[in-house]
Amino acid sequence: MKLPGIADVAQTERTSKSTGLHSAPPVKMAIRNASKSYDTRSGAVHALADVSLDVREGEFLCILGPSGCGKTTLLWSMAGLHALSSGSITLGNQQITRPNPEIAMIFQDANLLPWRNLAKNIELPFELKRKPPDRERIAKLLDRVGLAGFENKFPRELSGGMQQRASIVRSLSVDPSVLLMDEPFGALDAFTRDEMNLLIQEIWMETKKTIAFVTHSISEAIFLADRVAVMSARPGRIAEIYDIDIPRPRSIDIQTEPDFIKRVLDIKSRIEHGRGARVAIT
Ligand SMILES: Nc1ncnc2c1ncn2[C@@H]1O[C@H](COP(=O)(O)OP(=O)(O)OP(=O)(O)O)[C@@H](O)[C@H]1O
Ligand SMILES: [Mg+2]
Repeated sequence: MKLPGIADVAQTERTSKSTGLHSAPPVKMAIRNASKSYDTRSGAVHALADVSLDVREGEFLCILGPSGCGKTTLLWSMAGLHALSSGSITLGNQQITRPNPEIAMIFQDANLLPWRNLAKNIELPFELKRKPPDRERIAKLLDRVGLAGFENKFPRELSGGMQQRASIVRSLSVDPSVLLMDEPFGALDAFTRDEMNLLIQEIWMETKKTIAFVTHSISEAIFLADRVAVMSARPGRIAEIYDIDIPRPRSIDIQTEPDFIKRVLDIKSRIEHGRGARVAIT
């Protein structure tokens, strides 16, 4: 695997994409009329209603929505971790009905096993597949996220941000083409969250992975995304999709610029006035 510097070519393509000079990239994952009800003792919980959404090849798609609107349900379905009640999710021409090696999931909690050191945690996906770990790739990734030298540390010896960086390395170590991220930085303090957002932007620009990233935060979504898909309150539907044509790389400071604040307020007001759903600004 190559981890080159920030890809200027990718930036030029992405910038010109927003001007409409190129057509949209091909669809990587297609979600069609996805509905999901959970059977519970107190009756059915309708979590997702008729969600149709394309995730385009190489894009950074943020999925924004209020708590309980079905974001995790959607992401788990995309990862093949549970079945839809109706509708379909495809990756290329494959139906996603079980976990797929092309798709990696990163959770809010880093989910490191406390009794394994960092190296052993990162090698777990290889063990599960009974494959030898790609130590060269893992070493490059650890270096890339600033964790070289921490291989023998246990999770309790690492900060929350370091644990989440380790979980990113674990996911990328098997070289998936799609990364699904479920509020991965939601539990981190504001400074660490900024750092992680910059890191994930850089990794995405370098590796050109397709990323679907769930968040509650309008500003995080705008900062990271090529497109923001806003979900309505439960049962979750796609209420609106926004193109974010801010050039990259984006610095944390852009969040204080008038254009950025206008985008945040626009999404917030359209959510509040149009759809009845609430999303907290953070
Ligand atoms: N395993 C389950 N069994 C029953 N109901 C569930 C299950 N998982 C989720 N739900 C319900 O489905 C709805 C959507 O939940 P989900 O976790 O997908 O929302 P979310 O948008 O990810 O919320 P949050 O932002 O709080 O993480 C909620 O009402 C939740 O209670
Ligand atoms: Mg969730």
